[in-house]
Amino acid sequence: MNIAVVGSGYVGLVTGVCLAHIGHDVICVDIDEAKIKTLKQAKVPIYEPGLEDLLKKYLKNKRLRFTTSIKEATKESTAIFIAVGTPSKKNGEADLTYVENVAREIAVTMDSYKLIIEKSTVPADTGRRIERTIRLNLKNKIKQEKKGDREFDVASNPEFLREGSAVHDFMNPDRVVIGVESKKAEKILREIYKPLKPKMVVTNIKSAELIKHASNSFLATKISFINAIAQICDHIGGDVLKVAEGMGYDKRIGRAFLNAGVGYGGSCFPKDVDAFIRLSEKSGYNFRLLKEVRNVNEEQKSSFIRLIEDKLWIVKNKVIGVLGLAFKADTDDMRNAPSIDIIQALQAEGAKIRAYDPQAVNNAKKVLEDIIYCKDPYELAKDCDCLLILTEWDEFKDIDFTKIKKSMKQDIIFDGRNLYSDNRLGDIGFEYHGIGRGQV
Ligand SMILES: NC(=O)c1ccc[n+]([C@@H]2O[C@H](COP(=O)([O-])OP(=O)(O)OC[C@H]3O[C@@H](n4cnc5c(N)ncnc54)[C@H](O)[C@@H]3O)[C@@H](O)[C@H]2O)c1
Repeated sequence: MNIAVVGSGYVGLVTGVCLAHIGHDVICVDIDEAKIKTLKQAKVPIYEPGLEDLLKKYLKNKRLRFTTSIKEATKESTAIFIAVGTPSKKNGEADLTYVENVAREIAVTMDSYKLIIEKSTVPADTGRRIERTIRLNLKNKIKQEKKGDREFDVASNPEFLREGSAVHDFMNPDRVVIGVESKKAEKILREIYKPLKPKMVVTNIKSAELIKHASNSFLATKISFINAIAQICDHIGGDVLKVAEGMGYDKRIGRAFLNAGVGYGGSCFPKDVDAFIRLSEKSGYNFRLLKEVRNVNEEQKSSFIRLIEDKLWIVKNKVIGVLGLAFKADTDDMRNAPSIDIIQALQAEGAKIRAYDPQAVNNAKKVLEDIIYCKDPYELAKDCDCLLILTEWDEFKDIDFTKIKKSMKQDIIFDGRNLYSDNRLGDIGFEYHGIGRGQV
């Protein structure tokens, strides 16, 4: 099928490349000319394992193309995915300006039936608004094949991929959710995903939109729940890792997303939780539970900062080494990374920050100032008063801490991801502080 994907960021690019991989002819669009130029040269502007190889392959055999022109992409495609950003407004609501712009641009070009699919995460009711926007901006007469056929359809197809394993997640979805209002739209979406043989959840547009918000909010709730348990563990002397293990074997609960740490971040959970709270408020429901999820998440960062202040005593002029800046492992994404708030709070008290991250340094430079970036953990540790672990990169597990210890000024480690839970750092003489490890 001829498919357009508008927005070539983390979601749009993965979607476009993977749709080409399963046999479709795909044209990806972005307004960012530099990004499109890079992509045309078969270079991936983000860090996402496995993506560049597929990009090269499908660019070469021309199943995948890139353009800055929505007009060109609309003309050539039957299905058009909208995968642009939906950032937060100041009041927490989702800013749908980019979605509206794209809907308008598609409308003025359409001259035959198109299925317009929301892939971006949007509040319930956006589908109806997209439909209205398109209808108001239609410039060309669209021929209907049969009496009663629609000129176009809007559908919802939320994305559940995780950065860092996005290609794998797209190719092996737990489920594909489609929200449709016509048989034709359902047929097209089923055909698009047929090669993946996924479990399909077919519903109306509003329910599909709600599934995405409800899923992300539930996962954020699990994280805040285990972080609240971690606080109790620290106070009364339990080990959150064992609590999570003991809970996780229960199939009704599951172990995933029960990792205590410095809180969730990234481009999705914080903004989607905010947007869901606002949507609920507007609909007349006060989503107190979700507000508390957000509070617990913020509190998790401040209690980590308090712990550092307590153990270092005077933070001013102390040298703090930060291992990991990205909001999670296997990505270079710094959006809403907990490292930002933690580093800025410590800098405000006069700490000197050194940092190392395997992938996120370029993006970190755009949001953090006055940091000495180091080429590896060993250079980082030099003369540090303490180290903070803020991202759970796999490569950090193999660090030679005996070597690290020799170059540090003081031997204190604050492990914000419980990466070294086996007390090996304590065994070699570090003062080790994990999250929710009580008296372990
Ligand atoms: N990143 C994730 O892990 C993830 C997962 C699931 C869902 N989502 C959702 O998917 C959506 C996109 O997220 P992302 O992380 O890919 O964002 P992103 O910022 O990485 O990419 C968005 C892209 O859209 C482009 N764009 C903006 N306006 C445009 C226009 N008028 N025409 C063409 N391109 C335009 C931008 O230049 C940018 O490249 C968001 O709603 C997000 O919540 C993200």
